[in-house]
Amino acid sequence: MTSPPRPTLADVTRGRILYGGDYNPEQWPESVRREDVALMREAGVNLATVGVFSWARLEPRPGERDFGWLDRVLDLLHAGGIGVCLATPTASPPPWMGARHPETLPRDETGAVVWYGSRNHFCASSPVYRDHALRITADLADRYGDHPALRLWHVNNEYGTACWCDVTAAHFRRWLRDRYGSLDALNDAWGTAFWSQRYGDWEEIIPPRRAQYMVNPTQELDFRRFTSDALLECFTAERDALVERTPRIPVTTNFMPLFVGQNGWTWAEREDVVSVDLYPDPADPERDDGAAWGALVQDLTRSQARGPWLLMEQAAGPVNWRGVNHPRPEGLTRLWSLQAVARGADGICFFQWRQSRQGSEKFHSGMVSHAGPRGRTFRQVRQLGADLERLGALTGSPVTARAAVLHDWNAWWATLSAGRPSNLLTYERPLRAWHRALWESHLTCDFAHPESGLEDYALIAVPHLYLLTDAALDNLASYVRGGGTLVCGFFTGVVDTDDRVREGGVDARLREVLGIGTVHEWWPLDEGKVQPLASCGDDIAEGAVGTLWREDFETLPGTETVAAYRGGELGGRPAITRHPFGDGTAWYLSTLPDPAALRALLSRAAGEAGLRPPLPGLPTGVEAVRRGGRLFLLNHRREPATVPLPAPATDELTGRRHEHTITLGRHGAAVLREAPPA
Ligand code: GAL
Repeated sequence: MTSPPRPTLADVTRGRILYGGDYNPEQWPESVRREDVALMREAGVNLATVGVFSWARLEPRPGERDFGWLDRVLDLLHAGGIGVCLATPTASPPPWMGARHPETLPRDETGAVVWYGSRNHFCASSPVYRDHALRITADLADRYGDHPALRLWHVNNEYGTACWCDVTAAHFRRWLRDRYGSLDALNDAWGTAFWSQRYGDWEEIIPPRRAQYMVNPTQELDFRRFTSDALLECFTAERDALVERTPRIPVTTNFMPLFVGQNGWTWAEREDVVSVDLYPDPADPERDDGAAWGALVQDLTRSQARGPWLLMEQAAGPVNWRGVNHPRPEGLTRLWSLQAVARGADGICFFQWRQSRQGSEKFHSGMVSHAGPRGRTFRQVRQLGADLERLGALTGSPVTARAAVLHDWNAWWATLSAGRPSNLLTYERPLRAWHRALWESHLTCDFAHPESGLEDYALIAVPHLYLLTDAALDNLASYVRGGGTLVCGFFTGVVDTDDRVREGGVDARLREVLGIGTVHEWWPLDEGKVQPLASCGDDIAEGAVGTLWREDFETLPGTETVAAYRGGELGGRPAITRHPFGDGTAWYLSTLPDPAALRALLSRAAGEAGLRPPLPGLPTGVEAVRRGGRLFLLNHRREPATVPLPAPATDELTGRRHEHTITLGRHGAAVLREAPPA
């Protein structure tokens, strides 16, 4: 028997962009709630996320239930026409759980208890925690499954707590038995011949706890895999309890942006709706932490969702967890929200609706700030609501990207162990630099798993995948052989799935695709040091410098050296190469070029693969993305920008028609419906 199809985000949006935020009415007297609903209506809010951290209120003592207040909240929201995203409260167990069942509390690498008094203090392996979490989840579903306000389930919140306790150790051993089958296989995979680490009994195996010196890197890698899986088991158990009781309500859990602790590809497959929390730093919207960071997270989330997704949390003003917390300049929340819609979001929500007056987050902004409904924040929140109301026709529409950046958590995790050629080479550094270069070149890209189908993409960018499986290597080779363009960054394909170094420095299959021979040595660069490059052939790398990394490698006959190292130990050796392979082309970047050079190289490779920006002549700092037959223009600069238009177009936000150009104000945005060609 086949199970009925699962509901999707379209069942929640029903043709309107979702708009709202976390709503924590239990922090307020009941009298405030009527004003809340009136203000939500005024702002165009249509979704409130309720109950994220309400466990202690819902279950004041073990087994007791207090649902009355939540009944009233849901009824009130429903009466106001506001849908509810109802959370399971399992991210924050009540104090009674930690006090009565200390084994539910996580322990860190040193064995120290991580106490209650904050949040996210649970051991994902604890049967006691899991049992209590499932009971409250089931009771919520039984009570509210038929409530007319219920639109979406929100399980837990930002899963990410790791634990090193004894219960976890036993669970880790079960996970390892499933993975390896025998101790011999585990000893082989972990390379335990090194430093006398051989295990003779499963019971000897522990999580990678604090040790005297560097810990076995494959043990660490497996522990990261295991921790993601253990948390996913918690999510899946709650999801199943919800699906069984409310088959027509979709289920999500909110991701942290580009978060290391969850294998986001695997997790997203288990969700009906993929959602993410995103908090770029408004201090400098033109730096990585601003719009470029937002674009990266949005592209990744859309790719995980394989379609529209939900921005579950952002801030309407300052956060309170950076060293210095800056408010958002006028227009920035609107701009960044429209950026998310342009990149596939069908819902824009905030943490949180009303700014708290007590607790750790009282200086974190809310949609209704301490300044109240007459404050600047709420005025902007109202305006954004009106803007989003006009874009309902976009819901469900895809964003088409013909380039993809490959990303894999296993490769990321494998880079986190100590003892590598350079600590400066983090997984994120090349990833962010490359994505940013594509973003600045106006080339919309997806993210993709290295083993997934790539043939629909004209360009595949691999900033840095230290670990590549055999399947991924074969996949890349057949992609290029079939006519694709691959641009591959350094220190990629170096180890197999067990973190075992492949012969020849880089896997032989990848070297054949790239047209490179033996990689003799890595020559990493110190922070702030640069390596001049010299163009060979044309001037693409003229004046360019490499940063972070260099390699001494051979090229094979037929491989073009695009740029060479100029001066220093590697002077005259190849730095950037290009190689025809099968019907396609493979580029190799053995260093991280400066931003302008990286942009030029990626634009060149993309241009050769037939990719163009959506509009010619886009000014720097203006982002252009097509979605659902609309052209989004987003001005990330502090000054106005004028964009030439190839054809007259109407801005859906203002209804105004623009003939030859459109001028966007500081942080301005337009959503253009282009006139069909005459
Ligand atoms: C998120 C979290 C919210 C709130 C917010 C503050 O990570 O899910 O509950 O704490 O950060 O920025």
